[in-house]
Amino acid sequence: KSLAIVGCPFSGGQPRPGVDQGPIHLIQAGLPSQLEELGWKVQFDGHHQFEDIAKFITSDPDIGKLKNPRVVSKVCEAVAKSVGSHAKQGVLPVTLGGDHSLAMGTISGTLEQYPDACVVWIDAHADINTAETTDTGNIHGMPVSFLLGLGQPIPEFAWIKPQLKPNKIVYIGLRDVDAGEKKILRENGIKAFSMHEVDKHGIGKVVELALDHVNPKRDLPIHLSFDVDALDPTVAPSTGTPVRGGLTFREGHYICEAIYETGCLVALDIMEVNPSLAKEEEVRQTVAVGCSLARSALGETLL
Ligand code: ARG
Ligand code: MN
Ligand code: MN
Ligand code: MN
Repeated sequence: KSLAIVGCPFSGGQPRPGVDQGPIHLIQAGLPSQLEELGWKVQFDGHHQFEDIAKFITSDPDIGKLKNPRVVSKVCEAVAKSVGSHAKQGVLPVTLGGDHSLAMGTISGTLEQYPDACVVWIDAHADINTAETTDTGNIHGMPVSFLLGLGQPIPEFAWIKPQLKPNKIVYIGLRDVDAGEKKILRENGIKAFSMHEVDKHGIGKVVELALDHVNPKRDLPIHLSFDVDALDPTVAPSTGTPVRGGLTFREGHYICEAIYETGCLVALDIMEVNPSLAKEEEVRQTVAVGCSLARSALGETLL
């Protein structure tokens, strides 16, 4: 069993500097050797050098409300190629963000190799705004709508094949969903388990129901996209858009463990670790939790 770490030091999908340092901190904390200890052959060829892409884009004015659209698009296209080629070789891509706009790339790469894959999206946010509904213009709040092909087509993002179907994605952890996003979720019949459902049923039941929805026979490939802001800010404080009332440390890890247990995981994203937004100890804690979520999703057990 082999995995490849895809380091994505990128922050262009949102305005706060520092999230581009997330992957560097996760690597420095020892994630590659931690995963080797779980029995994985780990490839890590260094972080993506996105400056090489960005330097050819000398000006990137807003398109409608969208901020940094060309840079985000080009970077995600490169990420899609990298994730797709690892997947093609039977190597499991573990993408370290960076902001969550990168998931346009990671999930495109997964679907290229595994067209029947489903997506489990763990987040405080639905990240399903379109160019029309976004309040902020930050593309990290929009990747799911691009993957689904919602909203007016934008030529700069034409490389994204709208391959994801609304019944192939499920959310857990939501608690800060914009009005326009609620409408999109409803109109497309997209299944979402908010913190309300986690409180009501418990995390064990919620994960079971979520998998029953996207993967009833537990035989389809799973792409797990984990935004660390799904966790409560007391657990993962150093992130750009924290929202109180989130998943506990154990709830977050339980999700990862349960998905590993299906044997269906084909790709993992750990996103939105921003080491410049909190005190030193809180940064250390957030980076450590990013590493331990990855370990849980890749086979670490408590016993
Ligand atoms: N819904 C808000 C927006 O559209 C927040 C999105 C936060 N996304 C994230 N990946 N942290 O901007
Ligand atoms: Mn989020
Ligand atoms: Mn909001
Ligand atoms: Mn997100």
